[in-house]
Amino acid sequence: MPPVPETATPADTAEWAAIATVLARGDDRGRLLEILLEVRDAKGGIGISQAGLLALAERLRLFPSEAYEVATAFPAVNYAATTPYAADGCGDLVCGLLHGALGAGVCRNRCDGPRPEPVPRSFAAYRAAGGYGQLGRIMADPGAAAQMLERLSVHQAVGRAGVGFPVAEKWRQVIAAGGTPVVIVNGDEGELAIFKDRFILENDPHGVIEAALVAARVIGADQVFLYVRDDYVPIHAILRQALMEVAGAGLAEGLALELRRSGGAFICGEETALIASLEGRPARPVERPPFPTACGYLGRPTLLHNVETFYRVTAAWGGTLGSPASALLDPEVRLFSVSGRVCAPGPKPMRGLLRLADLVEIAGGMQDGHALGGMVIGGSAGALVSAADCYRPLADLLDEGLRLGTGGAIVFGATDEPRAIAARMAAYLARESCGQCGPCRIGTAHASRALAAPGPLDQHLLEDLAAVMGEASLCALGRNAGRFLGRLSIPGRGVSA
Ligand SMILES: Cc1cc2nc3c(=O)[nH]c(=O)nc-3n(C[C@H](O)[C@H](O)[C@H](O)COP(=O)(O)O)c2cc1C
Ligand code: SF4
Repeated sequence: MPPVPETATPADTAEWAAIATVLARGDDRGRLLEILLEVRDAKGGIGISQAGLLALAERLRLFPSEAYEVATAFPAVNYAATTPYAADGCGDLVCGLLHGALGAGVCRNRCDGPRPEPVPRSFAAYRAAGGYGQLGRIMADPGAAAQMLERLSVHQAVGRAGVGFPVAEKWRQVIAAGGTPVVIVNGDEGELAIFKDRFILENDPHGVIEAALVAARVIGADQVFLYVRDDYVPIHAILRQALMEVAGAGLAEGLALELRRSGGAFICGEETALIASLEGRPARPVERPPFPTACGYLGRPTLLHNVETFYRVTAAWGGTLGSPASALLDPEVRLFSVSGRVCAPGPKPMRGLLRLADLVEIAGGMQDGHALGGMVIGGSAGALVSAADCYRPLADLLDEGLRLGTGGAIVFGATDEPRAIAARMAAYLARESCGQCGPCRIGTAHASRALAAPGPLDQHLLEDLAAVMGEASLCALGRNAGRFLGRLSIPGRGVSA
């Protein structure tokens, strides 16, 4: 660090001391986002100042513009702010439904209300239930890898981030790419009103870690990242402790394990954007192919899965029971994140759900004074399902093309206006678009304005936007936003004009 100038104020001096302390823990430029978050934490939530950023850039041998680009790309860095970055009412869809417009924009995924301190299954309890047995097996006999991969195929494990890509196929692609791969656990969970990964990590962190370590052994990786939302603060402590226990027990020999935080934007969870942020660059998606399985973190083959995907693969080898999350080891169980106008919102593991309306009963019924008006299914670019459809067989809705995505179910009341709900969803997508490509940046903003404006809805505009965004957006955020607008413009299925 350059010396502190004589003109420095006490605040400058304190900031420079914080930067020096953070850099002493590691000054790899790939850690730039993490370094900026650590400086923010050391300053009580206030982001790094311009002078501090310039000093940091010099120390990391970055152009000032490179450091500035990263500092301003991630809301959680809180660059040059005067007030702390703190969880507050976000004003997004669920907040808006329940509390009206709030607007600070940082409390996403607390849509199930205040919660007690999590009490995860301990390392000792996990081991006592047979945990880390599969890891021990493959560490003792690397030849078991082929058999474990085969069991994954037979088990028909699929990705749980929404698309449902076969897990074994992804692992095979990484192995086929050659070289030394990297494993990434995607715990960004930035999708609107989804809290399933939080539920798993709060209850059974070792189940996720064991699966990631087994994956690393099977594909021959030497590095494992756990990438977790910045505002899942209790989970950071849980995972740090868990990683120490694993390393202390000699279960991670030859593997570098690292917890990294994401930067407070939905796009951070998109796999190529996530990898960019791990490399110290802004989280902007890149065109695929090449897919991360062949060319990911630092150009290396990369196996990246959602938290729930990792957790559930342990079932293929005989997962361990004993925590609330263990219900998910039954392949027939689906984890729904239920929020909105219900009495008991939260994560709801469900086996054989027959009708969406049954989720309301599981979640304690409708709040006083409200009748079911419908649900938003599948997240921020999901579908608005009417109350009548919620009472139809779910199988029929799925046959007609409904996608459950990551299992989000936002329940609204009969007096809630579907167009206002769609407007909030569009506003969220417009805010979270990374802005890199025109169809998404301009299209989401147009759609948000059109839906929020008074008067008849311009259906033709929605149709045009849907076509352009669906075809010309670079990543799935823009393409899914296009599909969302396309559904809204279907007569009888969309929102009223
Ligand atoms: C805008 C956007 C945000 C995403 N956010 C997440 C996320 O928070 N967590 C996640 O696991 N996948 C997220 N994904 C999907 C990832 O790109 C990737 O496909 C996924 O992590 C693969 O996991 P799976 O193989 O377990 O299904 C997101 C995708 C997009 C387009
Ligand atoms: S589609 Fe949207 S979020 Fe994706 S790269 Fe383009 S602008 Fe960014």
